[in-house]
Amino acid sequence: MRVLSGIQPSGALHIGNYFGALAPQLELQAGHEAFYFIADYHSMTSVRDPKLRRELTLGVALDYLACGLDPTKAVLYRQSDFPEVTELSWLLSTVTPMGLLERAHAYKDKVAQGLSADHGLFAYPVLQAADILIVNPDGVPVGQDQKQHIEMTRDIAQRFNHTYGEVFKIPDPLIREEVAVVPGTDGRKMSKSYDNVIPMFASKGKTKKAVMGVVTDSTPVEEPKKWDLPVFQLWSLFASASERSEMRARAEAGGLGYGDAKKDLLARVLEHFEPLRARREDWASRPDDVEDVLAAGVSRAREVGGPLLEQARQAAGLGRG
Ligand code: ADP
Ligand code: TRP
Repeated sequence: MRVLSGIQPSGALHIGNYFGALAPQLELQAGHEAFYFIADYHSMTSVRDPKLRRELTLGVALDYLACGLDPTKAVLYRQSDFPEVTELSWLLSTVTPMGLLERAHAYKDKVAQGLSADHGLFAYPVLQAADILIVNPDGVPVGQDQKQHIEMTRDIAQRFNHTYGEVFKIPDPLIREEVAVVPGTDGRKMSKSYDNVIPMFASKGKTKKAVMGVVTDSTPVEEPKKWDLPVFQLWSLFASASERSEMRARAEAGGLGYGDAKKDLLARVLEHFEPLRARREDWASRPDDVEDVLAAGVSRAREVGGPLLEQARQAAGLGRG
């Protein structure tokens, strides 16, 4: 099976991105043909600072490598090094109904907040369809929140095929229902845009500040605690099934203080990311090697995408026949 997924460089990645996206994606690199990319074109709909984009883009490449992307198994590239994607995006946009894009969450939410959206945000799902269809994957591993985008990709591919003949495979979303949305320190979904994150690779001091700031309620130490609180949900991500049932019993019996739960959570976060951090620092000290990985990655992606784009162009009667 061939799989493809991408992450936008729109902020430092957090443990929600790790459990919801990076870890499940990277599980697929063994035994499948895996394509991963850094969606820097997509980040242009929110990040306007070019220097910051460069930093964040390199950061996401390092995060993939730190989390175990093996360049001998999987392909990693920068979206903007793959020009066939934007050309395909135009072809696809001509078969995409306005109504489909008007229903897209990211655009609808922005307009609902009274903000003015630009064409890039409106056309975001078409670019995402191009990212995906350009390598003809069988599956796209994503979190729940991306379901709508994958459905739109399928719809757009079907419309293109219907208009010009069978060019694209219709990819399946690979969504792990058991991976719940990771809560942020304020109890909402952890998100770069809410200032409620536990970053994967912040300093020890910053990680401590984030973990100690996780919301709790005012239940006294000796009273029973509610297991669905964010502090326990976060803790559970770093524990085995038997540890979870033991901790749950302790929490519900009373006598467990939130401070102790947070201290243990902090220790587990630091311990879990320690080896990954070491690997990240190692890659970060060799930026030319990272660029080599990205260059080899995009060259493999273009080997697949180039001929596919040509097939789409031919089907649509573009260029020399
Ligand atoms: P953010 O909301 O922080 O900006 P993105 O929208 O860039 O994150 O998401 C990148 C990937 O991480 C997506 O595949 C998304 O499903 C996943 N993801 C983001 N936040 C969470 C979360 N809190 N829990 C689980 N998965 C998440
Ligand atoms: N929209 C995705 C997100 O915000 C990122 C993304 C862009 C993507 N293109 C993609 C994910 C293609 C999967 C496949 O998380």
